[in-house]
Amino acid sequence: MFLTTVIFLAFAANDASLPPGKGQEIVQKSCVGCHALKVVTSKRASKEQWSALVDQMVSRGADIPDEDIETVVEYLFKNFGPADPNASEKSDDGNKTVNVNKATATELAGTLGISGKDADAIVAYRDQKGIFKEWRDLANVPGIETKKIESNKDRITF
Ligand code: HEC
Repeated sequence: MFLTTVIFLAFAANDASLPPGKGQEIVQKSCVGCHALKVVTSKRASKEQWSALVDQMVSRGADIPDEDIETVVEYLFKNFGPADPNASEKSDDGNKTVNVNKATATELAGTLGISGKDADAIVAYRDQKGIFKEWRDLANVPGIETKKIESNKDRITF
């Protein structure tokens, strides 16, 4: 058992695995001939930089058909893009907004930091009374924590 674990870890360390997506197979196949995949997966670069880098690799002998270059660049950029603050903006829950007239209770709870009960109440109220026009309308929802709504009002869209 112990030995198996060690062998597994050794493999895992050598062979950094690629996230799934269009282009994964090409990278898996074409970018390991000369160096470890880890060289690729530990790099962070902008789209322009990846584009230049892939060109460079092709000129060094990487075997990628012309029509696949764009796919590879897209894939690399998407998964190994620059680690700058802008990159986190999309994935960081902290900056998300939610449409209170369309969102599910789960989305409301997640984005506004309210309880599932409050989120359900918003949905029920919306179903009964029609759409919300401004954040203050949400204060009319029975039992709602108005403070939480107010402190998150910048995240609310209509
Ligand atoms: C024909 C051999 C070859 C193939 C195939 C190849 N590379 Fe490279 N790659 C190299 C060499 C040689 C270096 C080191 C060159 C250097 O020092 O700049 C390198 C370095 C790199 C680096 C580190 C350089 C840096 O600026 O950080 C990255 C990232 C990289 N390759 C990505 C890729 C990707 C992505 C692919 C597949 C599209 C690929 N490589 C395919 C030869 C290859």
